[in-house]
Amino acid sequence: PPKLVVPKAAAAEPEEADDDKTKVSVFFGTQTGTAESFAKAFVEEAKVRYPQAKFKVIDLDDYAADDDEYGDGEPTDNAARFYKWFTELNDREDWFKNLQYGVFGLGNRQYEHFNKIAIVVDDLITEQGGKKLVPVGLGDDDQCIEDDFTAWRELVRPELYRVVLHDQPDESVTDNGSPNGYANGNTPCRANVAVKKELHTPASDRSCTHLEFDISGTGLVGPCWCLLLENVEEAEKLLNLSPQTYFSVHTDNEDGTPLSGSSLPPPFRPCTLRTALTKYADLMSMPKKSVLVALAEYASDQSEADRLRYLASPDGKEEYAQIAPTRVHVTCALVYDKTPTGRIHKGICSTWIKNAVPLEESSDCSWAPIFIRNSNFKLPADPKLPIIMVGPGTGLAPFRGFLQERLALKESGAELGPAILFFGCRSRKLDFVYEDELNSFVKAGVISELIVAFSREGPTKEYAQHRMSQRASDVWKMISDGGYVYVCGDARGMARDVHRTLHTIAQEQVGSS
Ligand code: 2AM
Repeated sequence: PPKLVVPKAAAAEPEEADDDKTKVSVFFGTQTGTAESFAKAFVEEAKVRYPQAKFKVIDLDDYAADDDEYGDGEPTDNAARFYKWFTELNDREDWFKNLQYGVFGLGNRQYEHFNKIAIVVDDLITEQGGKKLVPVGLGDDDQCIEDDFTAWRELVRPELYRVVLHDQPDESVTDNGSPNGYANGNTPCRANVAVKKELHTPASDRSCTHLEFDISGTGLVGPCWCLLLENVEEAEKLLNLSPQTYFSVHTDNEDGTPLSGSSLPPPFRPCTLRTALTKYADLMSMPKKSVLVALAEYASDQSEADRLRYLASPDGKEEYAQIAPTRVHVTCALVYDKTPTGRIHKGICSTWIKNAVPLEESSDCSWAPIFIRNSNFKLPADPKLPIIMVGPGTGLAPFRGFLQERLALKESGAELGPAILFFGCRSRKLDFVYEDELNSFVKAGVISELIVAFSREGPTKEYAQHRMSQRASDVWKMISDGGYVYVCGDARGMARDVHRTLHTIAQEQVGSS
């Protein structure tokens, strides 16, 4: 492979002596470890077959520049920085002229941008002079992704054989699955189960669990996750300073010399206010108590200073805890089916969740290694834009987050646009999860309308999309006003049907093909 850039890992790991061996590097981007396990399995097998070659498995996260905002496509978390950097680079013509390569993508045909990342990377390498050994493999998790990978690997094999020219003894292969600085699938954080509730009524023959993980102290909700430019701009305005203000922070050593040096991050080295706020400050999290005390020192209003000190004091502990976002909610339907052979299949994760012991019941509570995935599923930046949410069953889960956020926006004085939530479940008496909470969101004006379809109450099935059709003109008006449509839940059945319904609504409302 060409020398790409200065990967972080390369700095830590001395370059091995360049010998005549054919080098095969397998780069992977992985979300939950499937791509990583494919990459490693590929190399394990290839090492045995081609002892003359030198193999390496490389985490793409080690191949990226330091600038780490996430792009709009959805590469895996560990490959997001690589992808952004790679697609935005100019001038890499020379890099690939000696490269022979193949790309395999892991995707799911249910998604509109099926394997987009693999296709883009494959095209770019060819464009820049790389020689493609095999067509890009498009793994489809909707079917059987392992079969797709095996088929692609069969294509690679003869090619690999052809490029391995030298007959030399084996050498051990280094594998640098280096940990990242933040929690992800590789380095999760340990979080206690704080709360557990059954969401279905006792009459239901199924189960859906509400679980809350306590993430206080894990640092899981940290900077960069959801920092929006508008938050940065607001902070600059409050500080009454220009974004271009160039500054640095100095802490004196005991002997009075400034504590500085190139090893310290900005703002201990000079940087602009914009950079400091965007990259190094955490404007979104609840300030620590020590910060409240420090802020109190500078408060010009005595009552505000008192309030800050109160929140940081033992007396204010409970109130402080209420405003600190230290919980992650999970809504999980139990997977419990009979297989065609009669065996009972119990889902591993959902069964664990159902049986978890929460902290409110025992100090010896359950805990799990967790990480938070950066998601593109978020509210429009402008709260005045209409939103349509479609989330039957557990598909409701992310919308609880939306509604909590809208409530907070409203309470802070923002003007909210219309919001309709289409929810669906079997019957009001069995599985109308979070019913009270949803009604209170309606009452608070956070949802303009809650529209529920009960599939097993009447003689015919009523689904969320049927209710959408009944409200076609309202739905279309919201979309025409620049509204956003969000769909969450079963991708195979429901999402497809909702998509089709939206097409029909658009066709009928516009009167076009
Ligand atoms: P059903 O099980 O009675 O068919 C949450 O699971 C709700 O989604 C249930 O009411 C379920 O109905 C319904 N549902 C099942 N398939 C669906 C589909 N293709 N579109 C919309 N809702 C669906």
